[in-house]
Amino acid sequence: PTARLTLDPGFRVGTVDRRLFGSFVEHMGRTVYTGIFEPGHPAADSEGFRTDVLDLVRELGVTLVRYPGGNFVSNHRWEDGVGPREERPTRLDLAWRSVESNAFGLNEFMAWTAKAGVEPMMALNLGTRGTPEALALLEYANHPGGTAHSELRRSHGVPDPHGIRLWCLGNELDGPWQMGHKTAHEYGRLAAETARAMKRFDPSLELVACGSSNADIPTFASWEATVLEHTYEFADYISLHAYYDPEATDADSFLASGAGMDRMIDAITATADHVGAKLRSGKKIKLSFDEWNVWYQSRFGGEDSLEWRTAPRLIEDVYDVTDAVVVGSLLITLLRHADRVGAACQAQLANVIAPIMTEPGGPAWRQTIFHPFARTARHARGTVLRVEPESPVIETEKYGEVPALWATATHDEESGEIALFAVNRDRTSPLTLSADLRPFPGARVVEHLVLADDDPTAVNTADHPDRVRPRPVTGTGTDDGTLTAELPPVSWTMIRLA
Ligand code: AHR
Repeated sequence: PTARLTLDPGFRVGTVDRRLFGSFVEHMGRTVYTGIFEPGHPAADSEGFRTDVLDLVRELGVTLVRYPGGNFVSNHRWEDGVGPREERPTRLDLAWRSVESNAFGLNEFMAWTAKAGVEPMMALNLGTRGTPEALALLEYANHPGGTAHSELRRSHGVPDPHGIRLWCLGNELDGPWQMGHKTAHEYGRLAAETARAMKRFDPSLELVACGSSNADIPTFASWEATVLEHTYEFADYISLHAYYDPEATDADSFLASGAGMDRMIDAITATADHVGAKLRSGKKIKLSFDEWNVWYQSRFGGEDSLEWRTAPRLIEDVYDVTDAVVVGSLLITLLRHADRVGAACQAQLANVIAPIMTEPGGPAWRQTIFHPFARTARHARGTVLRVEPESPVIETEKYGEVPALWATATHDEESGEIALFAVNRDRTSPLTLSADLRPFPGARVVEHLVLADDDPTAVNTADHPDRVRPRPVTGTGTDDGTLTAELPPVSWTMIRLA
C-alpha cells in the first residue's frame, strides 16, 4: 500500500514552540534521588547532580522541565526544601507513600535547570494549601530582595531572583486520588484568585490552569469549561494529561494512541473556545500537554500497595520498540497542533516512566523512547506544515478507523531544512510513502532514519543499552519532485531534506 502527502510552505499549521519538548521531574520514586541527583555517585558534580544524566538530558533536547509534581505537589511545603540541608525536615509524602528527605528542593532544582539548559515550569500546591503560600513561594523565587521571603532566599545563598516565568496552578485537582481534591467550582475560584494575585505581582507571568487528569474521567471537558469560566481572564494555558497503556487495549488501538491524543486536543480546544465565546473574549487559551507518555499503568498496584520508603523503585517501565513508535506518533500529534499546543512535558525524565534510566552508583542509559524524542526535539524547528496525508486505514477497537500513516513536517525558514516525521501503524504491512516536494525545488535528502525492529518487543537494558536505536537508511532520493520511502511495519521515520 501507498500513502501520499504534500509538503508546501504555503500550508502552515503554526510555529513550533520550543516548549513542546518539555519533560517532568517529580519527587516520585527515583526521578530526583539516584536519578538526576546522587551525591557520591562517581559522575556527580560538586552539587550532587549526575553529569552522566545531565549529558543525556542535553542530548534528549529537553527544553522545559515541570517540577516538583505531579501528585506530590498537592501536599508539598516548598519551605521544607530550602535553607541549610541539615535543618530540612524529613516528611511523609502521602501521594506516593514515600519518605521525602528534602535534600533536593527549589534552589537545587533551579541550579540543575541552569546546568541542563532548560526552562523551569513550577507547579504550586493548590491541594492542601492556597493563595498565601503560592504568593510566598513566588516572592521567594522571583523578587529581587528587601522583603521577608526574598531576603530568606538571599540568606540561603541565592542572591539573584530565579525569574521563573511559567507556573502551574496546582495539579490534577479533579482526581479523587489528589490530596486536596476539589470540585471544578472550588478549584476554579481558588485558581482564579491565586492567578489574579500572581499577575498583580508580575503581569508577564504565564499561568497554567488544571484541566482534567485524563480523558476518561467522567468530568472531562465539563471540568475545563467550569474552571475556564472562573480563570479565563488570568490563565494563559489549560493543562492536558494522558497516558497510553499498551496492555489496556488491543494492539492496533495502542498503536493509534496519537489519534486519541488528537481527539483530546480537539475536544479541549473546542471547550476553551466555547468558554471564550460565552465570555465574548478575543483571547485564545493555549494548551499545555504537561503530562504525556506511554505508561504500563495496569501493572501499577496503586498507591495503597506501597510501603514507606525513600526513593523506591516506582513504575520503572521498560519500553520496547512499539512503545518508542507510539511516543514518536504522540510527538507528531503535538506538532500537528502547534497552533494551539504551546507547551508539553513528557512524564517523566529519569527512571519513573522515563526516557533515561539509571542505576544507583552505576550507569545511565537511553530507553527506546529516548530516540524519537531526541530526534524530534532537535530537528522539528520553524513552521509546522499542514501535510494532509492520504493513507490506507486500520480498524481499531478504541478509535474506529485510523490512517496507517501518521505524519507531520516542519520547515525551518532560517536554515532551509525540512524535517518529515512519519509513523507506520500497520503491524504487518510496510507502507510506501510518496511525498510531493514540488514546492521545494532542489530539496535533497540529507538524512533518513528509521526506528523499527524484527522484534517489536526488543528493549534497551543496562547490559544492552543500544540494542534499539534508529538506523540510517541510505539511497533515499527524490525523483521529479517526489520523495519515495519505505516505512516498515510498526516504525518511526525521520527524513531530513535541505
Ligand atoms: O506522572 C505520574 C503521575 O501521573 C503524576 O504524579 C500525576 O500528576 C499523574 O496522575
